[in-house]
Amino acid sequence: MGTRLAGKVAVITGGGGGIGSAAGRIFCAEGARVALVDQSEDAVMSAVHDIRQAIPGAEVHGFVADLGVEAEADRVIGEVVARLGAVDVLVNNVGIRRYEAVADAPWEAWDAIIRVNLLSFVSMTRAALPHLRKSGRGSIVNTSSTYAVYGRKGMGAYDATKAGVLALTRTLAFEEGAHGVRANAICPGFTRTPFHVKRLGAAAVEELVPPCVMKRWAEPAELAYPMLWLASDEASYVTGATFMIDGGLPA
Ligand SMILES: NC(=O)c1ccc[n+]([C@@H]2O[C@H](COP(=O)([O-])OP(=O)(O)OC[C@H]3O[C@@H](n4cnc5c(N)ncnc54)[C@H](O)[C@@H]3O)[C@@H](O)[C@H]2O)c1
Repeated sequence: MGTRLAGKVAVITGGGGGIGSAAGRIFCAEGARVALVDQSEDAVMSAVHDIRQAIPGAEVHGFVADLGVEAEADRVIGEVVARLGAVDVLVNNVGIRRYEAVADAPWEAWDAIIRVNLLSFVSMTRAALPHLRKSGRGSIVNTSSTYAVYGRKGMGAYDATKAGVLALTRTLAFEEGAHGVRANAICPGFTRTPFHVKRLGAAAVEELVPPCVMKRWAEPAELAYPMLWLASDEASYVTGATFMIDGGLPA
């Protein structure tokens, strides 16, 4: 067991998914008490179970919430504080995808993805801020995407929300610095999460060589370790920053 997050309470959205559950495991291993929040009860409880198996004594709890609904943020942060007493770290990591050209994507698709990928970052941040400020060493880590920065076709709504996350992160850094709260973003590249394995099939994931310097997919833990650093006091002079964790895209 490490101590890099000793004494801290961390809330991780999308905590039942690939990157979120990896962050939960690594944060627990470094002494944090962790709240995983996810819409899927099965996914979040299975992540909690796996973390408890891997790290005896881990204090990790699952919370079920549809974060595309504004009021859910206040409810879930209230439940986390009632159970764990604080929020020192907020990892806004929840994300959904739509694979449509702008010409084809219906208004409802834009509405749904903006609610989850961008507005939930706002509602969760707003709900957590009084506790992050009280912490005196609060840290917000927002998950964006390399395609917030680079162009491509076919996922316009997703990429627009991820670019919005970067602007939101910078604004939060400016507004919350005086309150002792840092805000940073990470931009994952191709990351081998169960979502992609299910979507493409294991063989196709194996065959697809990402167009990056590393010429391989990232494992979820390779995203979770940068999150750990940003969440910890080791990054006490880092705010408003965007970190490309993409194996060197575009190569
Ligand atoms: N995996 C990649 O290659 C990659 C690349 C770039 C960015 N990202 C970003 O990283 C983050 C995590 O990605 P991942 O691959 O681990 O995703 P994932 O699909 O494995 O996990 C996302 C989780 O969010 C949950 N979720 C979906 N809608 C929700 C809602 N309305 N309320 C609450 N929970 C909800 C899902 O149940 C799921 O457990 C996302 O923001 C994603 O956009 C991932």
